[in-house]
Amino acid sequence: MKAKSIKSIRKDFKDKGIFYTPEALALKIKSYVDIEPESVYDPTCGAGSLLRVFPDDVKKYGQELDGEQLRLIDLPNFTGYEGDTLEDDGFKGMVFDCIVANPPFSVKWNAEKLQEDVRFSAAPAVPPPSKADWAFILHILYHLSDEGVAVVLVFPGILYRGQREGKVRKWFVENNYIDRVVNIPGKTFEDTSIPTCIIVLKKNKRDTNILFEDGERTREVSRKELEENNYTLTPSTYLPNEIVKEVVDIDKLNKSIVDMVLKHVENTFIQIYSLKDISDDNFYLDKLITGLEEILVRYSSERTERRDNS
Ligand SMILES: C[S@@+](CC[C@H](N)C(=O)[O-])C[C@H]1O[C@@H](n2cnc3c(N)ncnc32)[C@H](O)[C@@H]1O
Repeated sequence: MKAKSIKSIRKDFKDKGIFYTPEALALKIKSYVDIEPESVYDPTCGAGSLLRVFPDDVKKYGQELDGEQLRLIDLPNFTGYEGDTLEDDGFKGMVFDCIVANPPFSVKWNAEKLQEDVRFSAAPAVPPPSKADWAFILHILYHLSDEGVAVVLVFPGILYRGQREGKVRKWFVENNYIDRVVNIPGKTFEDTSIPTCIIVLKKNKRDTNILFEDGERTREVSRKELEENNYTLTPSTYLPNEIVKEVVDIDKLNKSIVDMVLKHVENTFIQIYSLKDISDDNFYLDKLITGLEEILVRYSSERTERRDNS
């Protein structure tokens, strides 16, 4: 049987609803790894695209629910584990200097069964059963070494949603685990049409600021400002798009209104005169002139009063 190309494997996966991490995105994620790790771990490694961008001599560890994808990984120095990362942690007790992940977005998980698990009981709330996003991040935090760095691609909703997710997020901020949040607009990478964000986690931060990044723009935000914004981590809260203010020239605007009105009045006279030629009737002409005279009288006296008062 003819071996399948990576492209056709990806297409098969896509057709089945399995999403891989494109290489350019994997490289972007790796660009936030500011250490030279000896090992790297991906808890939802799929077919290994995120691990593949690290040099061959770096030890690679990955867990994946779907054995079919895991068996495609042919990387040197790779140790894989098939199973549900949240329910059955294949690397229990290990810590890593570098963790990279693109976990599934907002999937269901067994929060009730796992609420006593040491990985999830550390935070003041257990992430909701309908959305495992913060559960994956808590799992990652648990496996991160004190000097390490974790880079996770996340669904933007987890950065502002409230209730249990809000409590977990606040705990992450208060414990100073969040180093940076990066906005990734939709369609930036092949096969990633929706907007996403990258969260960088560290346990050894020297200050309590969080760096927000959106394209070329970056801004360090203090804990106080984060607190004032209810611990929202959405980059646009701190890096709003500049509002382009149109400068209105009032003199120019008034002049064009006056010109327009005068032109309109003149055109009305022209129209009425042309009617008069046909009907020889002064009715509309008289009505227009009388109406204009009334307006002129009213505003002329107003103008005189204003002049007298100034
Ligand atoms: C967005 S993909 C990541 C793809 C991977 N980075 C790659 O490029 O191939 C998310 C992966 O998480 C896996 N997954 C979902 N739930 C999981 C779980 N509870 N435990 C382990 N893996 C899981 C999915 O099977 C899928 O392969």
